[in-house]
Amino acid sequence: MAYRILITRKIPDAGIRLLQEKGYELEINLRDHPLDRETLKEKIRHCHGIIALLSDSIDKEIIDVAPQLKIIANYAVGYNNIDVAYATKRGIWVSNTPDVLTAATADLAWALLMAVSKRIVEADAYVRAGKFKGWAPELFLGHDVSGKTLGIIGAGRIGQAVGRRARGFEMTILYHSGSRKPEFERQNGAQYVSLDELLARSDFVSLHCPLTKKTRHLLNAPRLKSMKTGSILINTARGAVVDEAALVRALKQGPLAGAGLDVYEHEPQIHQELLTLKNVVLLPHIGSATVETRNEMARMAARNVISVLESGKAINPVNQIDSV
Ligand code: GLV
Ligand code: GLV
Repeated sequence: MAYRILITRKIPDAGIRLLQEKGYELEINLRDHPLDRETLKEKIRHCHGIIALLSDSIDKEIIDVAPQLKIIANYAVGYNNIDVAYATKRGIWVSNTPDVLTAATADLAWALLMAVSKRIVEADAYVRAGKFKGWAPELFLGHDVSGKTLGIIGAGRIGQAVGRRARGFEMTILYHSGSRKPEFERQNGAQYVSLDELLARSDFVSLHCPLTKKTRHLLNAPRLKSMKTGSILINTARGAVVDEAALVRALKQGPLAGAGLDVYEHEPQIHQELLTLKNVVLLPHIGSATVETRNEMARMAARNVISVLESGKAINPVNQIDSV
């Protein structure tokens, strides 16, 4: 009997082909919206593997309807959407897509940083609206980036890649992370500081930590208030790391001068007031969205499925399963 794999949303063909070559039976959601929970439960029932999206909540209830499931391959580097502890208990591998999206996501964090500080989106709208009547001394004054202080929260692969890019802008690099990164410090002159010091000193704060119980609302109202006056927050990690309602207040009343957001606390819902603020740039969670990166992510997810089913071990595991 062929292995059955559920792919909860159409991913690039590069990954699908690898699974087809193995002769697996593929069930792919070809619609332009996510599977609702009931359909997901129905479809996963007889599957041996699933390629899931970060928007699919793969919790105990879903895992329990799939007795044959061996691998949950998340099509993302973050995996807060999966109950990994329960999957592990059930002997199910969980894999993610690290490394291949590091550069794309770091680049996007920089695109947001630049867009907010140079007011790119506002200025573009102004030109398109036919309002440009000639050079003016105080038209769209933005903020300097070069020589400023960048604070990186979460110095994993992506956070470090953002820091490396900051060297070209001759920035002072501060970071706060679960552990010290001596190599990152040595190569980039990055300084490890407490979260309080980072927030007080940074002109730009960029979030790159995973969403966990510990990091949920890491930037709560008091911490947002403690940020440097005129600073700019960039979030390409997970929305719930920030208290979104408190962020709106910090943008309206200070101390924040602006924010660049790719992720939201209640995705795809966005705090209504964010939509009305001119000093924010809002993206629809596209950190890893380049053709090259998404192809690689699709291949990586497929290879993890194949590796578990053919040899009992994931290539990019986020948990460990003892072979029996
Ligand atoms: C995207 O947000 C990811 O975790 O890959
Ligand atoms: C993971 O979150 C990374 O930084 O690659």
